[in-house]
Amino acid sequence: MANKLVVGNWKMNGSRASNAALLEALKSLQPWSCRVAVCAPFPYLGETALSLQGSSIAWGAQDCSAQEKGAFTGEVSAGMLSEFGCTYVILGHSERRQYHAEPDALVADKAKVALAHRLTPIVCVGETLAERDAGQTEAVVKRQLSAVIHGLGHCISQIVVAYEPVWAIGTGRTATPEQAQSVHAVLRSQLRAATQKAGDMALLYGGSVKADNAATLFAQPDIDGGLIGGASLVAADFNAICRAAG
Ligand code: 13P
Repeated sequence: MANKLVVGNWKMNGSRASNAALLEALKSLQPWSCRVAVCAPFPYLGETALSLQGSSIAWGAQDCSAQEKGAFTGEVSAGMLSEFGCTYVILGHSERRQYHAEPDALVADKAKVALAHRLTPIVCVGETLAERDAGQTEAVVKRQLSAVIHGLGHCISQIVVAYEPVWAIGTGRTATPEQAQSVHAVLRSQLRAATQKAGDMALLYGGSVKADNAATLFAQPDIDGGLIGGASLVAADFNAICRAAG
């Protein structure tokens, strides 16, 4: 796809003061030729939305409930996010799959509810190191994506997919451009079997993307941008990654 997408996943980081400084810095560095978004922790979304009003930077959340509303203490619904003007919601991040035991079917249910509220789900897939070493990479990512394809039907074309090998997240150990491209090609062909719009969908790579490796990753034919963790917390680094996507 022509116009790449770079999304910052702040994870559970930041404070009102540091977020304000980061967002001010990013606004002063815009525009970029790619699309850019930041996904902040829930309590900061309102202030993030206000700060980004009138800017070219979109914002998103890092999760949402699969339920519409009701007695689900601690959960945040897609409708609530939508009410604030949210654009993206990260779903099925490996940290949620790992620490909150989120199964594939739940991720698919969340994607369905998110789409119903006009949010764009960024659905994460990726194998652990043990799975890669056992030669299961392709089977794992296909299984994870297949659940979402099954749940969404032809609406699958409205999501963003992020390939994030678990062993590359926060480890400084990036997948090589060739490793990433080969998994992206698998995902693209799986999507092609489900929708004619697969070529227009954004497939992001995530996992230790930094200013110095972003350009070669983004040059791969099936890598349409990045989902950035640690480097998205530093304006200069995030800016350099966005420039590399231009
Ligand atoms: P890092 O860029 O810190 O490796 O995190 C990647 C990630 O998990 C983005 O969602």
